[in-house]
Amino acid sequence: MTCFAIYTPGHTPACMVHVMGDAAFVGDTLFMPDGGSARADFPGGDAGTLYDSIQKLLALPDEMRLFMCHDYGPDGRDIRWETTVGDEKKHNIHVGGNKTRAEFIAFRTERDATLGMPRLILPSLQVNMRAGRLPTDDSGKQMLKVPVNGL
Ligand SMILES: [Fe+2]
Repeated sequence: MTCFAIYTPGHTPACMVHVMGDAAFVGDTLFMPDGGSARADFPGGDAGTLYDSIQKLLALPDEMRLFMCHDYGPDGRDIRWETTVGDEKKHNIHVGGNKTRAEFIAFRTERDATLGMPRLILPSLQVNMRAGRLPTDDSGKQMLKVPVNGL
């Protein structure tokens, strides 16, 4: 089986896609066709870079199976996790139908400006920046810091 990784920054500077045989695990870069794409306004994120990364994914064979990291079940549909490159190229609401880089950047930037901070962003950042380890205080007790009036 052929396996390789594709660097796909844009949502975050650390995003990767892992291809194994006829399946690609896309991380947060792309959502189901009716979900679109990930936001690009986190630290180090960039809408143009995200578009370029998505183009790398869409250059894979049409029959390549894509497995999602997130699905929010738009309009109340059941959660789904698998689609194909061909389906994304035709139907993705943010990048399908040959949307241009400029169209994507304009849409993504406008939409991201309306999105609130994710509920678990503070714990996630504190754990992610330590490569999955929980932060500890001076006594070794595991602690997360949450500002009371800072955000
Ligand atoms: Fe994410």
